[in-house]
Amino acid sequence: MKKTLNVGLVGFGMIGKAHAYGLATLPFFAPGLTVAPRILGVATSRAETAESARETLGCEFATTDWRALIENPAVDVVHICTPNAEHLPALLAAIRLGKPIYCEKPVVSNAAEAAQVRAALAETGYDAPTQVAFHLRGFAAVRRAKELIASGRLGRLVRYRIGYYHAGALDASAPFRWKHAPSGGTILDLASHLLDLTDYLIGLPAELTATATTLWPTRPVRAIQAGETAADVPTRPVEAEDAVSILTRGVAQSGADPRDPAASTGVIEATKLAAGAEDEMTFEIGGTQGAVRFSLMEPHYLEFFDGTKPSGANGGESGWTRIAAGARYEAPECDFPSAKSTTGWLRAHVASLATFYRSVAEGGSFGPDLAQGLRIQDALDAVKRSVERRSWETL
Ligand SMILES: NC(=O)c1ccc[n+]([C@@H]2O[C@H](COP(=O)([O-])OP(=O)(O)OC[C@H]3O[C@@H](n4cnc5c(N)ncnc54)[C@H](O)[C@@H]3O)[C@@H](O)[C@H]2O)c1
Repeated sequence: MKKTLNVGLVGFGMIGKAHAYGLATLPFFAPGLTVAPRILGVATSRAETAESARETLGCEFATTDWRALIENPAVDVVHICTPNAEHLPALLAAIRLGKPIYCEKPVVSNAAEAAQVRAALAETGYDAPTQVAFHLRGFAAVRRAKELIASGRLGRLVRYRIGYYHAGALDASAPFRWKHAPSGGTILDLASHLLDLTDYLIGLPAELTATATTLWPTRPVRAIQAGETAADVPTRPVEAEDAVSILTRGVAQSGADPRDPAASTGVIEATKLAAGAEDEMTFEIGGTQGAVRFSLMEPHYLEFFDGTKPSGANGGESGWTRIAAGARYEAPECDFPSAKSTTGWLRAHVASLATFYRSVAEGGSFGPDLAQGLRIQDALDAVKRSVERRSWETL
């Protein structure tokens, strides 16, 4: 008999729905879990959206007071799915109560808030399981890339390129929303995923320099309705970048001097100005003996180049291999609906939830925990400092 865990879901926008979807499907995708999370209550910012969320979820109650939800003694686990600027107070409340936390990325909005979270963790002696929803680690193909890199199949790391490409900010008529405020720009929104993946696969860079772009200085305060022109709607200044390009040297944890001419280099690009892009995250990591590459638009496959395979007449054995990673997850996850089925974005969220609830059930941490999320927060601040100062920053 699985142990039921009551979840308090704080926020039910785009990602709150993905969490709810993931939780509902966990019994199929992760049948080996010994716990059964179910959403008990939901909090949103307005009474109408809260009630509509309750109806959609079929949960017991809805509120506009996230504190009451987190403090409800029947709530065992807290999911934080609010805009970035709202994470901190909810996190501090859940930490003080010692409840397990599954928090959306980025953990908070800046390094100063990260310091407050660290202080609260230390003061309270908090030791419950946590996870940050850096769900891109949840693709079997990404996990396979890590195995190949960690087992030395690429040789010594030489270079990498990792990017996240969206097109949404190209549209000048798209209204201002929280993602255009300082707590919501592309550095926090997309580069957070890329820095976490860089850390997961390679290690955070020793040094970085960055430059950013904001395409339109202002945006309409609300959507332009049929029959209106842009001139009919007031505008407000855009306060955050649409795109960032980051150049890196070395690997921080290696302790090696990043000024060594042979230090590895990387290019990290996060942009919402990529015409034609859908939701395209790609990486290519190369070493002295081989390389891996991955595209979120083809998540079934990891491509692997094994440089030890001989080239020869008619090609020999040299070339890229497409590894069919697909839905081939390790226990206690499974290959539902089948190992050969195509896999997608939501599946990685389910895999991320599965590692969190495994941590809750078994203790320890199977995914990127709050400490990892806070490390990424510091790195994001280094990116912002570099953009402002036009400098190289050390991590
Ligand atoms: N991991 C991912 O793939 C991914 C994808 C998208 C968003 N996110 C992250 O998820 C978070 C939310 O993003 P979103 O796109 O779902 O935002 P959203 O604007 O679609 O939804 C935000 C939700 O939070 C609620 N909310 C806002 N302020 C509140 C308050 N004070 N009290 C209670 N509820 C409040 C809103 O009512 C809404 O339900 C962000 O941190 C974002 O970075 C992660």
